[in-house]
Amino acid sequence: MKKRVLVSGGAGYIGSHVTVELIQAGYDVVVADNLSNCDLTCFEGVKKITGKDDIPFEKIDCCDYASVDRLFSEFRIDAVIHFAAFKAVGESVAEPLKYYRNNLLSLLNILEAAKTHGGCNVLFSSSATVYGETDKLPVTEESPRQPAISPYGNTKQICEDILRDTVKATAAYGNEVMPGIDKPGPVKGTALRYFNPIGAHPSALIGELPRGVPNNLVPYITQTAIGKRECLSIFGNDYPTPDGTCLRDYIDVVDLAKAHVAAVARMLEGRMAEDYEIFNIGTGRPVSVLELVNTFEKVNNLKLNYRFTPRREGDITAIWADPSRAEKELGWKAQRTVEETLAAAWAWEKHLAGKE
Ligand code: UFG
Repeated sequence: MKKRVLVSGGAGYIGSHVTVELIQAGYDVVVADNLSNCDLTCFEGVKKITGKDDIPFEKIDCCDYASVDRLFSEFRIDAVIHFAAFKAVGESVAEPLKYYRNNLLSLLNILEAAKTHGGCNVLFSSSATVYGETDKLPVTEESPRQPAISPYGNTKQICEDILRDTVKATAAYGNEVMPGIDKPGPVKGTALRYFNPIGAHPSALIGELPRGVPNNLVPYITQTAIGKRECLSIFGNDYPTPDGTCLRDYIDVVDLAKAHVAAVARMLEGRMAEDYEIFNIGTGRPVSVLELVNTFEKVNNLKLNYRFTPRREGDITAIWADPSRAEKELGWKAQRTVEETLAAAWAWEKHLAGKE
């Protein structure tokens, strides 16, 4: 029987790419999303890419336990990939309660339902932000986490801990009768720490759809190139890096999606070395902001309007991954070049412009 994966937040940027890869790898998928930060554009794109018109879509809010519980009752769910969360760093500083309530409660509900319905595999969408600023680069999964500088970053750390503790506590479930729980079962957990996801599907049918002014670099670049924004600000050119701009590890969103499929397969096929595992998902290649801008111009044969402005508060100088654990354990490695990724990002922006 085909295994079924619940993708919470599956209509969003990363969730939609993961849904495509899961279906193409032969899984059944249920997409759950409250559409608070996206519409159905990408979900429709997923249907076109996969040629599957009957992907179950549930418009639910994971902060509502009854809705999550109902999903687990209606569908036999073998694994959950939990994306549903808020992700704007600046907004989280202004509205910490909104971030803590949404990001923590949705995971708590998923885990509660997972253990109550006989146990489940849960993959959590974490972030390299947990490492903070460090001189020891690249970062491995053993690199210490640093105190978070934003509530958003803090929710990633707390959620990792909630998952880890739940996995530990539920390991014995199924062997003993738990008061108040009919069919308790163990939860197994994987946290994927993403570096900087960018790009779009090569079909240009799904991609990033920021609401309002983009916070992240690549959507700002593509919106400037298409004329929606006047000028890209490069935040700081006085960092202690080769060209003075920050270094990041930009990971293609399709490569990132494939890492989820590899991690889910490892869980479903009983190949985990520990019941809770963590993997860095990056390329291992640092790229500067200026290099990224120059590559975007070159590969798409255009000139971008940009200027240097002061540093953005909270930005770290440099971070990139040591992705060797993912390569060894998951058999996954980033494949696409920055050039391919930036060409795909531009094709997606043009696709959006064509629809307007
Ligand atoms: N940048 C610019 N101009 C812009 C936007 C970004 O120069 O208009 C620069 C930033 O200063 C940074 C780089 O581009 O050096 C990447 O910035 P992003 O905002 O795209 O990504 P971040 O590395 O800041 O953010 C990532 C994740 C977040 C996570 C954060 C923690 O996207 O989810 O790391 O630092 F919280």
